This record gives sequence, C-alpha cells and structure tokens, in this order.
Amino acid sequence: MKKQTKAIRIQTAKSLNREHSVPLYLTSSFAFDSAEQGKALFDETEEGNIYSRFSNPNVSEFVEKVCMLENAEDGIATGTGMAAVFASMAGLLKSGDHIVACRALFGSAHQIITQILSKWGITHTYVDATATEADWEAAMQPNTKMVYLETPSNPGLELVDLEMLVRLKAKYGFILNVDNCFATPILQNPIDYGADLSVHSATKYMDGQGRVLGGIVVGRADLIQPIRFFARHTGPSLSPFNAWVLSKSLETLDLRMERHCRNALQLAEALESHPDVERVLYPFLPSHPQYDLAKKQMSAGGAIVTIELEGGFERVKAFYDALTIPTLSSNLGDSRTIVTNPNTTTHAKLKPDEKAALGITPGLIRISVGLEDIEDLIEDFAQAATKSAEVLKEKVA
Ligand SMILES: Cc1ncc(COP(=O)(O)O)c(C=O)c1O
Repeated sequence: MKKQTKAIRIQTAKSLNREHSVPLYLTSSFAFDSAEQGKALFDETEEGNIYSRFSNPNVSEFVEKVCMLENAEDGIATGTGMAAVFASMAGLLKSGDHIVACRALFGSAHQIITQILSKWGITHTYVDATATEADWEAAMQPNTKMVYLETPSNPGLELVDLEMLVRLKAKYGFILNVDNCFATPILQNPIDYGADLSVHSATKYMDGQGRVLGGIVVGRADLIQPIRFFARHTGPSLSPFNAWVLSKSLETLDLRMERHCRNALQLAEALESHPDVERVLYPFLPSHPQYDLAKKQMSAGGAIVTIELEGGFERVKAFYDALTIPTLSSNLGDSRTIVTNPNTTTHAKLKPDEKAALGITPGLIRISVGLEDIEDLIEDFAQAATKSAEVLKEKVA
C-alpha cells in the first residue's frame, strides 16, 4: 500500500462497539486483569498499556503513522515540539559530550543548546547552514556525539545538505538529528538520506489547523530506546486528546501540503515581481541561493515564504495595518495564512550579532501560507506592499 493509503487506514483495533472513527482513550491508567498480568506488564514479558505517561492507544496510533511516513523504525511522541527536541538531546547526550549544530535554529532550540545543555557540561559549536563540508568538518571534536539541524530553517529558509552530513557521519560517527518540521514527512525524509533521527513540532503542519500542541521524534530503534526511558521517567507525554486530533490530521497532511506548497510558490512568484518588496526567499524560486539543493532534497518548496520590506519596523506596522486576510501571530503551519515579524517576536531574544548572523532584520516577515484561495492572498499581499510603501513615503515627506 502507498503511504497516503496507510496514513488513512492505520488505526487502533476496533473496540467491541465496532466504531468507524477511532475512539478517544481519555484515561490516565489501564486496568490489569490479574496480579500476574500487572507483574508481566511491568517486567515487560507482556506488551500492553499501563499508564498514559508511558503509552496510550491514541498516542501509539499517531506514532505508528509518523514512523510509517518517515520510514523510521520507532518513535516517541511528546506534548510539544520543544519537548521532542529536548528529549532527543537529553536522552542521548551526557556530560562531556559535544554537539555541532546549525546556527540557523528555532529560538528555543538555540536556548536549549546554549543555556540548558551547557549547565550539564555539554558543549556546542555552531556552523552556518551554507557552510562548506570543510567548515562542518572543522567543527568536529573527538567528543562530538550529535549534529543537530533544521532544514529548511526558521525563518531564513536556509538549507543544509543532508547527503554531505551523512558522508561526515560515516567518518566521525555522530548521531544525525534533523528537525524536519518545515518540510514535513511529505516533502522530505531525512532518514532516507541516512539521518538517525527526525524531530517534529506536530503543532505545525501535522495538526495544520492551529488547535493542539504536540511533538515527535522518530528514527533508529536503538536511539529511541534511551529517549523513551528519558520521556517515561521525566513525563513530557503527549495527551491522548491531542494525539487523537493529530492522528486524524495525518489523514489529510499529503493533501494539505500539496495545496500549501502550490499557494506558497504562486505567492512567492507574485511578490518577487512586486516593486515594493525588496526580497523574497522561497526554496523553490530559482533566485534562492540553494535552489539546486532544494530541488534535490525536497519534493516541493514548503509553505513558508520569507520577505524583506524596506523601512524597518515602521514599514512592518504599515504592512500589517493594510493586510486584511492574514492573522498576525507567531505560529505557522495553519490552514489560515499567518504573518510574523521574527525580529520582534519569535527571535526577539537573540543578541544583535546572532540576529545578524541569521539575517533577521527589522523588515523581515515570515509568511506561513495557508489554504485560502491564492488569488485572494496575492491581491491582499500586493495591495499591502504598495500601500505600506506609500504610507512610509508620506511619513518621510
Ligand atoms: C522548526 C521548529 N522546531 C520546533 C518548534 C517548537 O515546537 P512547539 O511550539 O510545538 O514546541 C518550532 C516552533 O514552535 C519550530 O518552528
């Protein structure tokens, strides 16, 4: 069966009620039929649910689907994407280890690496996403245990060459851990390239309608095992309700991504030819500095378009005031188009030199392109670009 059929048809076994849609197992614990069964479940001679911090049918269904979509051996779901990122590091790294990470990271991942892991003696080295193989190699140390990256990155849409890192992995033996949230398993499967782990904020496209938080890490079974141990005992579990929503959403992920990507490409093309938009970044635009890599590594360009407007925060304010359709929010991956000014929101806590290294300027706007009619979106963004440029000119005059 093809993946899309499996994403729809994988389902928890029917109960005695023969329901068509999977029920919600909103239960914190599970009953034992006998004292022997309780003992057997705990000593793992029998498989089964014990307590929803460890496992739950709705959560297991969600994990099974993502493992299938990512071609992964095993996985563990968490309450948020950041819990998945943290568990993938805390479950595998120990004091004295070194992590090499791509500089272009989501703000909280950056905080985990620089402020939290560092407290436990785990050191790091950052490398630019677009660095050469020799630059990545220069960052390796004898104690480098993990390489962590996002591709494409948030919000600069920089790509990391997975094939190149898998080559280095063979030489240095690190764990390659990829945040695949922006691409989703529909557009890119890092594990197929040879990555060991793929991490997701399920809050984004996997949910796709801005309703629930969730996270998941999937990959090599021998690596998931210590991550599962970490999660079982520290408790960042995904709630059954959120898992139920997310598993249902995976039935339409493929369909939604197709429309998201088509809308995003058309919007990016339209804004690139707009005289009042300084710069448009989108992996599948030939003007993207890593267009060839994007075409090789991803089956479509994703649903984030990042634009640069001249005039700093004043221009952003005028642009926001002129927009009529998008929501002003810091989230992404929703059926509704969302605009974000990373400099003042998601990446506000970075130091000026860190922002400069990531290209986060005051006039940068991240557009999470939704599923609305594309003609409406193009018209709205185009008029807002024109109007905000005029407003700024009048202010200056
Ligand atoms: C690339 C990426 N990874 C991880 C996260 C964290 O996910 P969550 O908000 O579900 O914790 C986000 C956004 O929030 C993100 O954009």
